[in-house]
Amino acid sequence: MALRTIRTMGDEVLTKHCREIKEMTPRIRELIDDMVETLYEANGVGLAAPQVGVLKRVAIIDVGDGPIVLVNPVILETSGEQFGSEGCLSLPGKAGDVSRPNYVKVRALDQEMQEFELEGTELLARAICHEVDHLEGHMYVEKVQGGLYDVEFEEEA
Ligand code: NI
Repeated sequence: MALRTIRTMGDEVLTKHCREIKEMTPRIRELIDDMVETLYEANGVGLAAPQVGVLKRVAIIDVGDGPIVLVNPVILETSGEQFGSEGCLSLPGKAGDVSRPNYVKVRALDQEMQEFELEGTELLARAICHEVDHLEGHMYVEKVQGGLYDVEFEEEA
């Protein structure tokens, strides 16, 4: 396992569409292990592969219950709304207020390429939307209402 460098906003890798993973390979397993390590080192809530420079559809989320690996995630359902502060490891020290669904159901594959569905509310729902956006080349700043502000500590994804 190794730490990977987190790309920051302005790096064009963060604006690209990511490709689906067709089969699990040693290289992708290593990517996932490295992303988990990198996420914890950064004290983040989520990390998507393009944030470490890899244009593949993988994201890791941990809202405090252990790492969730999402390979090829697809959002199936959303409902409700939450409006609040959001940050990103690719834009450290900043946050902004973003509207997100308060409930999200996602289908994905795990690191064994087994399909599962996951339901999340509040922070988990927000993190799922944030990471899936990264896989499409989008940053939360595109959705911020009212401008960015400086933060000393923020749950970043
Ligand atoms: Ni992010």
